[in-house]
Amino acid sequence: MTDEFQSYRDRVNQQLQLHLDQASSEKLLQAMQYAVFNGGKRIRPLLVYLTTEAFDSPILLADKTACAIEFIHCYSLIHDDLPAMDDDSLRRGKPTVHIKFDEATAILAADAFQSLAFDLIASDDQLTPEIRVDLVRSIAHAAGANGMVAGQMIDIESEGQSISADELELMHNRKTGDLISASVMSGAIISGASPEMRTNIQIFGSALGLAFQVKDDILDETGDTSRMGKQRGSDAVRNKTTFVSIHGLDAAINYLEELSLKAIKSLKPLGESGAHLINLVNFNTNRDH
Ligand code: IPE
Ligand code: IPE
Ligand code: MG
Ligand code: MG
Ligand code: MG
Repeated sequence: MTDEFQSYRDRVNQQLQLHLDQASSEKLLQAMQYAVFNGGKRIRPLLVYLTTEAFDSPILLADKTACAIEFIHCYSLIHDDLPAMDDDSLRRGKPTVHIKFDEATAILAADAFQSLAFDLIASDDQLTPEIRVDLVRSIAHAAGANGMVAGQMIDIESEGQSISADELELMHNRKTGDLISASVMSGAIISGASPEMRTNIQIFGSALGLAFQVKDDILDETGDTSRMGKQRGSDAVRNKTTFVSIHGLDAAINYLEELSLKAIKSLKPLGESGAHLINLVNFNTNRDH
């Protein structure tokens, strides 16, 4: 994948490497490296970088936070693929971590990512203590029992059930939207953006986050397994409630368009500085993996 975001992807890949070079268990380290260095799109770290830049701060300040959020995302994917959850055997074009290693190692590698993420932010001496605390609070909230984990719980509980359109939207906002929103909010926190700007970027993050999971649901129905690096049709096999299963493919495609326009509109106050973020919205709309 080479596009206008590649230099940011290269940067975060280098940074991720720095934090994954030692652990007291060689097997744990290998599982963690395996889970990270396998062609993820790095959307969330890109959002941290692009938002930091959009608010006129040097991206150097965003390196550790970008890694932290990608580590939390990697942990969520390892757990999401476990037999007790989505029971998937393919991720980013390779066997999932519990298949390549074993379930215990997969669970522990994910646990270790979560701790590493908060360690990185708390120890980031480029940022003031106040900013570090704000970042930890915002990301912890997005990832936890009122955020991503809540969404994953609704996802599991709604397998084979018919849930309302509102519950579906809540599930998507929590399981995927919240960490994406926290990624853009992190750029605003790092840059000391004004409360008005934070409100705008929150609207952007929520719209893009929901659009991202709607697109994921569409790809599960229409995508190509070899392009996506994960099994097409996995949702249907598991009787998952998705945007496509509730509303149908056409409505999902229309909703993706609507959310993308909302996200782009919310960036207006940023003027030219929002150009990269607009392109990222379009990247999501058009992605095939
Ligand atoms: C997949 O996320 C899981 C969701 C939250 C939809 P990504 O599509 O960002 O996965 P990678 O990191 O690029 O593999
Ligand atoms: C995953 O949603 C959400 C999180 C990992 C938090 P999915 O279960 O739809 O993601 P994929 O399709 O397996 O990547
Ligand atoms: Mg899932
Ligand atoms: Mg899954
Ligand atoms: Mg999916």
